[in-house]
Amino acid sequence: MTDPRLTLLQGVRDYYSSKLAEHGPHPSGVDWSSVERQRERFRQLTCNIGEGPNSVLDLGCGYGALWDYLVGEGKVVRYLGLDISGPMIAQARTLHADLPDCVFEVGSQPRPGYEHVVASGIFNVRAGVDRATWEAHVQDTMRVMFEACEKTCAFNFLTSYSDADRMSPALYYADPRKVLDFCITRLSLDVELSHHYGAWDFTVRVLKQRSGGGAEVDGHLSGRILPA
Ligand SMILES: C[S@@+](CC[C@H](N)C(=O)[O-])C[C@H]1O[C@@H](n2cnc3c(N)ncnc32)[C@H](O)[C@@H]1O
Repeated sequence: MTDPRLTLLQGVRDYYSSKLAEHGPHPSGVDWSSVERQRERFRQLTCNIGEGPNSVLDLGCGYGALWDYLVGEGKVVRYLGLDISGPMIAQARTLHADLPDCVFEVGSQPRPGYEHVVASGIFNVRAGVDRATWEAHVQDTMRVMFEACEKTCAFNFLTSYSDADRMSPALYYADPRKVLDFCITRLSLDVELSHHYGAWDFTVRVLKQRSGGGAEVDGHLSGRILPA
């Protein structure tokens, strides 16, 4: 294992592999409560992606439901799904066999060559990793996703504004103000944050380049990587 993330994420990997074994390739098999909630998250993550052709890297792809969502929305994609769970990738390959532009691999390291790099649900379960280590991992992952993407990256979090009596100590709830501050000060000034869709989570879209390609967006610089 050359990627140190895979060592940190062993507990997360085992958690999701057991969810898949229990529930199969359904939203509950990736810990979502319903198809509708899973699809709403996809909608928030991909609303800047046009009809295409597009290229999308899906980090933490599970059994590949995002590919089906994008195709169902009429978006043409060249797609790579990465997941730390071997059983998830095996299931995704079974469900999406013989599709030339739809590839699944075990891994956690985004690579260049994709316009959009998205991740749904990868920061929620920290499987016993302490909060400080987890937050460093989250920031590092946001950074590598942004560096890898050609146009946009997007990710979601459980919100720290969830009702206290419904929060689980096993899960990671991010403060949207801190995530926004990190993205604006460390990645790009061109950031969108959606905290309105009622799934106890929020989505952040960080733009390196808007459709059309210009670096200047209404007077704001898009995709300027700020100094660390
Ligand atoms: C909540 S599930 C969501 C799956 C899929 N994105 C969906 O919405 O249907 C999160 C998935 O991300 C994987 N995962 C978690 N952290 C990851 C990482 N850093 N890199 C790759 N996969 C990861 C898990 O194994 C799990 O399959």
